[in-house]
Amino acid sequence: MTDLFRLDGKVAVVTGGGRGIGLMMARGLLQAGASVYLSSRKEAELDAAVEALSPLGRVSAVPADLGTAEGVAALTAAVTGREDAIHALFNNAGAAWGAPYEEFPESGFDKVYNVNVKGVFLLTRALTPLLNAAATEDDPARVINTGSIDGIVAPGKGRDNFSYSASKAAVHMLTRHLAGELAPKILVNAIAPGLFESRMTKEMLRAGSDAVGAGMPLGRIGQPDDIAGISVFLASRASAYITGAVIPVDGGVSTIS
Ligand SMILES: NC(=O)c1ccc[n+]([C@@H]2O[C@H](COP(=O)([O-])OP(=O)(O)OC[C@H]3O[C@@H](n4cnc5c(N)ncnc54)[C@H](OP(=O)(O)O)[C@@H]3O)[C@@H](O)[C@H]2O)c1
Repeated sequence: MTDLFRLDGKVAVVTGGGRGIGLMMARGLLQAGASVYLSSRKEAELDAAVEALSPLGRVSAVPADLGTAEGVAALTAAVTGREDAIHALFNNAGAAWGAPYEEFPESGFDKVYNVNVKGVFLLTRALTPLLNAAATEDDPARVINTGSIDGIVAPGKGRDNFSYSASKAAVHMLTRHLAGELAPKILVNAIAPGLFESRMTKEMLRAGSDAVGAGMPLGRIGQPDDIAGISVFLASRASAYITGAVIPVDGGVSTIS
């Protein structure tokens, strides 16, 4: 049974892997036996992540701005130069923007959409040959996109992340669309996280994780193992019959509250 969930011999790419949720994903994947490439813009952050994760397995970093076609090409070239096949691509890099409705700048849409939506499409397409090369009949390759519960339930009045919520709904639909396009060799699913501690959620957690979590259906915010568990599952043979799914990992926030 444990074989179903092991990732030994598999290669994964995790964008936004230098910190936050991407780092939680990378740690879980390495612990399950995969080799991991991390990518994001800040080289120093990537280096620190590689140093911290190296005891767990083979991990390396490729700095790239994935909101641009050039950055996508650079990451693709780096990985293609070193690997013949990629078993799992985690499109997790993401950006957010907050500003009052009346003042929300056009650039707040461009920046967020470039990384959260366009970059996901371009990188998936660029790595499709390597993903196809990894696919087998009983264990297809995987694309796992990071969406958000903000793309499922509209943020309430005063939560001024207009381009972010719209971009995450787009990620969920792109997940379903690409699942159809890339079947049967590549499965495409999305994780829709609730609230996890990261740079992006610093403001939302100002009152403290325990206080904020207490108001949630499961009485807590998300923890690193909650991300590791779903990430390993979606990269493993255990999920070989799931594609086009958007899975909330939110302690019930989007469904119960
Ligand atoms: N934390 C939560 O509660 C939560 C909830 C729902 C969804 N999410 C989603 O989870 C994902 C990870 O976010 P996080 O919470 O871990 O926040 P975070 O700590 O801010 O991480 C964002 C990651 O994306 C990278 N990134 C941003 N812009 C990039 C670009 N142009 N090119 C390449 N990499 C870029 C960042 O690295 P650089 O800045 O170095 O590029 C960083 O590694 C995002 O897609 C976010 O929308 C998070």
